Formats: sequence, structure tokens, C-alpha cells
Amino acid sequence: MTASPIIAPSILASDFSRLAEEVQAIEGTADWVHVDVMDNHFVPNLTIGLPVVTSLRKATSIPFDVHLMITDPQRWAPAYAEAGAYNVTFHAEACDDPVALAKTLRAAGSKAGLAIDRDTPVEPYLELLPYLDTILIMTIKAGFGGQAFMPEMLDKVRDVRRRAQINDLEIRIEVDGGIAADTIERAAEAGADAFVAGTAVYGAADPAEAIRKLRALAAARMGLA
Ligand code: DX5
Ligand code: ZN
Repeated sequence: MTASPIIAPSILASDFSRLAEEVQAIEGTADWVHVDVMDNHFVPNLTIGLPVVTSLRKATSIPFDVHLMITDPQRWAPAYAEAGAYNVTFHAEACDDPVALAKTLRAAGSKAGLAIDRDTPVEPYLELLPYLDTILIMTIKAGFGGQAFMPEMLDKVRDVRRRAQINDLEIRIEVDGGIAADTIERAAEAGADAFVAGTAVYGAADPAEAIRKLRALAAARMGLA
């Protein structure tokens, strides 16, 4: 059975001085809230960390999809699971034992996700899929919102979808970067079923309406509409 699409607005594109209201504006329409944690080491940018996630968790019932763009996720990731994140995704490039960390995250109460950045091939990680709940394929270079979607990254999505089908795995295939009304259909067609959208949601006059539109476009391509 095909799972229905997950739309995960990224608060990176929201107004950081009004985070609680920005998240509440998508309550009831967003499936997950995507929280981009950047440490100015793994990526040049710096965003928010655990104290903000802990406070924001109390402001909404929408599940948190935490995307850790940080070095040493073995040290920092479990605290996000303990803070109530639904899914915690760490980067393959920053972790030498992804299976161990995925197990730790699941034991700490969250789903476990592995992110693959623009310049990283996905093949070496296909064997790890049974240990993961989510695989996040970057469709840009991680670090900043508002970048142009890279369609050539969708080959990685196709590879993961093929392997998930062959092995009958239950895994969410998430895409992140440049997802908008003019790109989401291509990503869905390639096999993605979870879609991060920052600018396309929070840059829209009506974020909730933007989410509904994105979901309808994805669902149609996934054969669900
Ligand atoms: C960038 C982040 C993305 C970012 C996407 O490294 O991982 O989640 O917020 O922003 P848009 O949707 O604007 O490309
Ligand atoms: Zn992200």
C-alpha cells in the first residue's frame, strides 16, 4: 500500500522571533514540522538547538522532524529524541556508525533518520535501510534555505525506492531543498513520500493553503488522488 504524502514545512524560512505562532499557523495542515539544527561546523550556517526545540515542543502537537546538520551526532542526537522529537535525522557524513546511532535513537523514543548530502552517493547506505525509519535525500547542498532544487539528486531517491520495494521495507523517503509547487511532482514520481518545504510554505501569503496545494500535487503523482 502506498503511504500518503507527508508535508513537513521547515521553520528555517519562518519568522524566528515568532516561532510558536509560526508553527501554530500550520497546525492541522502540516504532517510534521521540520526543524533544521545547524552548528556552524558541519555546515557554515548556525540556527537553533536543543533549548529552542524543547520550548517549541510545548507550543504545538505537530510531530517534530528534527534535521541535525551537526558534527558528532552520536553525542547530541539522543537528547532531541528525549525532548520529544518524533523523528531525528542525522547526516551520514558526520557519523561513523549510523546503525548504532539509529538504535540509540529508537531506544530513546524517536524514529531514526539518515540524511545524505548533495555530494554523497547513496549506494553504500542502501544496506542500512532496515535499521532506519527515514532516509532524507538532500536536493540541495545542506546549509541554507532558498536554494534551487537539483533534479539530478532524484536518482538517489529512485535507488532507495527500488531497494525498499525489493526488500519490502517500510521507510519514509524524504526530500529536502527547493521543494515547491513546480518541483514536488518530480520528487514524488521518483519515489519520495515525505517533502520538506521551507520557502514554499513560509514564503507564501497563506502557509496552510500552500501545504494543501503541495500535498495534492504529491498525492496525485503517488497515485492517491
Ligand atoms: C537546508 C535545510 C532545509 C531548508 C529548505 O539545509 O535542510 O530544510 O529549510 O529550505 P527550502 O525549502 O527553502 O529549500
Ligand atoms: Zn532540512
